This record gives sequence, structure tokens and C-alpha cells, in this order.
Amino acid sequence: MRIEIVDDYQAVNRAAASHIAAVVAAKPTASIVLATGSSPMGTYQDLVARHERNAFDATRLRVFQLDAYLGLGREDRRSLYRWLAESFLTPLGVPDDHVVALPGDTTDPDAVCLAFDAAVREAGGFDLSVLGLGPNGHLGFNEPPAAPDSPTRVVDLSEESIISNARYWGGLDQVPRRALTAGLASLLAARETLLLVSGAHKHGILRRTVEEAPSPDVPASYLQVAANVTVIADRAAWDGDGAHLGSRSGDR
Ligand code: GLP
Repeated sequence: MRIEIVDDYQAVNRAAASHIAAVVAAKPTASIVLATGSSPMGTYQDLVARHERNAFDATRLRVFQLDAYLGLGREDRRSLYRWLAESFLTPLGVPDDHVVALPGDTTDPDAVCLAFDAAVREAGGFDLSVLGLGPNGHLGFNEPPAAPDSPTRVVDLSEESIISNARYWGGLDQVPRRALTAGLASLLAARETLLLVSGAHKHGILRRTVEEAPSPDVPASYLQVAANVTVIADRAAWDGDGAHLGSRSGDR
């Protein structure tokens, strides 16, 4: 695991976008799984800017959705698919048939999860995984405790996830209680992973992620034993001071 500490959220974005651009330049048909949430939004904006000056081409990628709220279809404006579409897929021109979604409005979630893992296998696994760090150490919605061999599955959201996502929903009681998440098994098997961490509020969980022995209680801690992981964190997240709070963008 490499840890890159950079000044602020904007520097996280630049570093992550450069990293992603290098992976995609080396393999334009790469299979990548992409988080939503605030952490990667600036990175995606940076990639869109590169695309606009013909310096980044995502049109041959195969893109996998990391997680989804159960019960919401892809057209629902609150769905994570829609967020991914608006921030990455549409501005970068990724064709629909290059996207492997997690349709939250399915009547058969178990079948959807099996089909997702089959699609990951068929793609030969993820070349690149771009992740944020949940406030309780979750990756995607692999809520603690999560075993490292967890498949893609339906999960009950933890209290912490419900609280941290309430800002996107206009209140705690509005947040769905269940979700679909790509499993830790496929995420940890990615050939390369970027974990993007920004802001002093992530300090405690970031330190647990990189310093404690890997355990199901902090699912992200298993990244310590995965191949080719780069944590890109800003100083506020690493040092825990509040100096850089407010420098983030991309919230909605
Ligand atoms: C959310 C999502 C994750 C995301 C993480 C961190 O609940 N399930 O995919 O990476 O928590 O979110 P943020 O980047 O907004 O801090």
C-alpha cells in the first residue's frame, strides 16, 4: 500500500486524475469500478476537463457501478447510477453498453448480484478500482463487519452510513435502509486501487484503515493486503486538523 499525502482536495483530484489517465492510456479498454460520493467528484471533473482538451478518452472503458440503493431505478435522480452518469459516464461519453449497472429497482436483487459478479469475472476482474472511504471504514456499501471474500450482495445500511448520507436525502428518515454493493472479494482482487480520502472528518477512520491489523470491523483495512493500492489523502485527513475543511467540492 502506497500512501500519498497531498495538500488539499484539489491536489487529491489532480493526483487521482493523473493516475487514472495513466492507467487508461496504457489500457484504453480497462474495466474500472467507480465510486460516487463526494471524494471522487473533483477527480471526475478533472478527467472531464482533460477529455475536453482531448487528453483523456473513456469511450472504450468498461465501467462498473460500485453500489446502489435498493428500490431506486437508474433514472431516479437520487440513485447512485444517476450520480455516476452525470459526473462521469455522460460527460465522458461512455456508451451505455459499456456500463455494468447495479439496478436498485430489481425485483430479484440476488440474481442482479450474481449477474454482476459474473460480469466482473467475464471482464477478467477490475483493472482499476476508484474508491472513497466510508465513515465507518466501508468500501462501497460493504458495511462492517465485512469478510474479505464477500460477494456482491444486498446489505442493510449501518446507522453511520444512514447518517452520513442524510445530507443527500433531506433528512435521516428519507435515506433508504438497504443497498446493493460490489463485494469486497472483487474489489480486493482489483489489479490497481485508488482510495481517495479528504477532510479532517476522515482522519480517525483513515488511520484505522492503514495502521490497524486488517479486520472485518474496518473493511477498508483489507486494502493493506491487496495488490497495488494507492491511498491519496489530503493533509486534513492525514493530520486530522480542521485547516482544510471547506476545501472540498462536488457535494450535492
Ligand atoms: C458512501 C458510498 C461509498 C462512498 C463512501 C464515502 O456511503 N457508499 O461509495 O465511497 O460512502 O463517501 P464520501 O466520498 O461522500 O465521503
